[in-house]
Amino acid sequence: YRSLRIALLGAGSVGAQVARLLLEQGDELAARSGARLELVGIGVRDVEAKRDVELPRELLTDDLATLVAGADVVVELLGGIEPARSLLLDAIAAGADVVTANKALVAAHGPELFEAAEAVGAQVAYEAAVGGAIPIIRPLEQSLAGDRVLRVMGIVNGTTNFILDRMHTQGATLEEALRVATDLGYAEADPTADVEGFDAASKATILASLAFHTVVPADRVHREGITGVSAEMVAQAERTGRVLKLVAICERLGGPAGDRVSARVHPVSLPATHPLAAVHEAKNAIFVTAEAAGDLMFYGAGAGGPETASAVLGDLVSIARRHVLGGPGSPPSSHANLAVAEFGDVLARH
Ligand code: HSE
Repeated sequence: YRSLRIALLGAGSVGAQVARLLLEQGDELAARSGARLELVGIGVRDVEAKRDVELPRELLTDDLATLVAGADVVVELLGGIEPARSLLLDAIAAGADVVTANKALVAAHGPELFEAAEAVGAQVAYEAAVGGAIPIIRPLEQSLAGDRVLRVMGIVNGTTNFILDRMHTQGATLEEALRVATDLGYAEADPTADVEGFDAASKATILASLAFHTVVPADRVHREGITGVSAEMVAQAERTGRVLKLVAICERLGGPAGDRVSARVHPVSLPATHPLAAVHEAKNAIFVTAEAAGDLMFYGAGAGGPETASAVLGDLVSIARRHVLGGPGSPPSSHANLAVAEFGDVLARH
């Protein structure tokens, strides 16, 4: 295999899992992508900080600029705008591809990053930026590219869904539920981004831009978080058979060929029978309505270390395949050689 030097920026709940998977499943990832994904370093603020997942000490560095300079692919899981933006622009200028889960960055500076990448023929992949493990970026960008998307609506913040769910099912307070969500690795470093709806608004920006092939500026997304949701409002919703959810709604206005779009995030009181009402804990769900395709539904883990790492690894494999093949990321011809069970064996085991 040829080798791709991967620089990982950030070793939080997602970064640590990406590192673990790259180190533990290297052979399998190489077979699947056609290239060895060699983790050359993990950029962190404090090399000595205590971490939940043990990472090889020799890979940790606080010199992020040098790490980026020597990489073929930079995986950015720092969050926030700076230094993430500058590091990625430097990486792209040096010809590296980038993978990021940073929705705030993609929402605010996506066009700048995409243009820089286009100028040098580099790739920017961000499947993990919306919906955690759920494949939603590629479906909107590629699978639905031949259709007219009319509407994207969904629960795109795991933390607030977890909080509202606990307020409904356990009578928890916002503060109590947020503490648990933070412990589980769902919340942002600054959970204001979650509870005030900034995180969901970033995701709405990204979804609307992709769905409608336009640039929806982050400051044009109407945003209302869940800090105004009280125990009394939850109880009132319950009494009327309804459930409070924080929902992002992106719509094309004026019919299938309409030339205006709107994107907004706010709490919605849904009938308990609505499919989104059944989305519990930190799960996300995204409904896409397209003119020809009709209704599509994407559901899964919207936050969490291993879950989000799955999407990051998928981007890495896809980038590696393009390096190897020069094509749009189709799988290499050498497939894993697994034995195929007889139909009867399969039945017997279930
Ligand atoms: N804080 C985010 C959430 C993480 O709770 O959904 C995933 O983007």
